[in-house]
Amino acid sequence: METAMAATNDELIGRSGVDDLEGILAVTNTDVDEALHAVRDNAEAVFTWDYAKGARPKLARLYEKSKTSMWNGETDLPWDTEVDQEQVAMQNVWIGGSLGAGLDLDGTCFQHWGEKEWVRLGVESQNWVLSQFMHGEQGALVCTAKIVESVPWMDAKYYAATQVMDEARHVEVFAKYLDKLSGHYPINAHLKLLLDDIISDSRWDMTYLGMQIMVEGLALAAFGFIHQLTSEPLLKQLLRYVMSDEARHVAFGVLTLQDYYAELTAAEVRERQEFAFEAAVRMRDRFLQQEVWERMGVPVEEAVSLVMQAPERVLFQTMLFSKVVPNCRKLGLLDAADGWLRDRFTELGVIGFEHCADTGEEYEIYALAEGSAEGGTEGGTRSRGAPPL
Ligand SMILES: [Fe+2]
Ligand SMILES: [Fe+2]
Repeated sequence: METAMAATNDELIGRSGVDDLEGILAVTNTDVDEALHAVRDNAEAVFTWDYAKGARPKLARLYEKSKTSMWNGETDLPWDTEVDQEQVAMQNVWIGGSLGAGLDLDGTCFQHWGEKEWVRLGVESQNWVLSQFMHGEQGALVCTAKIVESVPWMDAKYYAATQVMDEARHVEVFAKYLDKLSGHYPINAHLKLLLDDIISDSRWDMTYLGMQIMVEGLALAAFGFIHQLTSEPLLKQLLRYVMSDEARHVAFGVLTLQDYYAELTAAEVRERQEFAFEAAVRMRDRFLQQEVWERMGVPVEEAVSLVMQAPERVLFQTMLFSKVVPNCRKLGLLDAADGWLRDRFTELGVIGFEHCADTGEEYEIYALAEGSAEGGTEGGTRSRGAPPL
C-alpha cells in the first residue's frame, strides 16, 4: 500500500485556484478502485500526567453534554421508510439537479434534455452528495482519533473520544442510507486531497482547524440546507440527528483553538489563515460534482461552466460559508496579519456572514430533546424541531 504525500499549499493553489476551472477539473481521483488508502499522519502521540478534570470548563461542559446526547443509528431511525429516489429528485433540491431553472440552455449540451434526463441527474446528484458525506464522515472519524492522540489537554482528549464515537455513527448511518439508493461514488479528488492534508499535518491544531472548523463547519451548513429542503422523512431525520452532533463538534474546535491561538505569533497565525482559506476553496470546488457529469456522459467542462452560473448554485456555495466565517472571526483569524483572511473571504463574496452566530455558542440550539428516541416523524421525538440555518 502506498502512503500518500500531502500536497503543499503552493501546489494546491496552482492546481485549483479560485475560479480556475481548468485547474479544478485537472484534479481527478486516479485510483477509484483502491480498497484502502494510507496516509502518514506525522504526529506524536502525547500523554499528559495532568488528570485534573475541568481545567478547561467549557470543554468539560461539552464532554458532559456529549455523554448524554448519544443516539443509536441502528434503532433510532425509521429504516423501514421507503425511499422513492426519483420522487425526491423531482424536488430539485439536489445540487446540479436544478440546473434548468433560471438559465438559457439553448445551444448547450442540455438543449434536448427532457424530464427523464433531469430526473436522472437529480438521482445521480443524490448518490454523489451522500457518498461524499459518507467519505467526509470517515475523514472526521480518523481525524478525531488523531486528536485524541495528539492534543495535550486531558479535557480535550475526553471530549474528542466521544466525538470518535459520534463519527463512527455518522459513517454508519450514511452508509446504510446509501444502501437504499441506486449507486455510490468514490471519494471526490478535492475532498481526498483535503483530508490527506489535514491528517498528515504534524501540528495538532491543524487537524482541528481543517476538520473541526472548516470541513465540519461547511458540512453543518450543507446538512442544514438539505435538511430544510428535502421532504424525504428518513433523510430528514438522519440529518437532524447528525447535525445535533456536528454542532457540538464545531464548538469543540472553536473552544479549543480560541485558547491556543491567543498564544501564537503573528507568523504562526498567518499560516493558519492560509490553511483555512485553502480548505475553504477546496471544499467549494468539490461541490462541482464533475464525477456525475462523467458518469452521465455529459461534456464535463461545459456542464460545470453552466452549473457555476446557476443562481441556486451560487446561493448554495455562498451559504456553505455561513458557519465557517463567524467561527474564523471568533478565533481571531479574520483580522490577524493585516486582515489577510478577511480580504480572501471578501473576494469569495462570503464576508457578509461574519456576524452570524458562531457555533461556539449555538450548539445547544441544535441539541436533540431529552427522552425517548423512538419514532419516525420529522426530527423524531427527541427533536426540538428545525435548527437555525
Ligand atoms: Fe460527523
Ligand atoms: Fe463531526
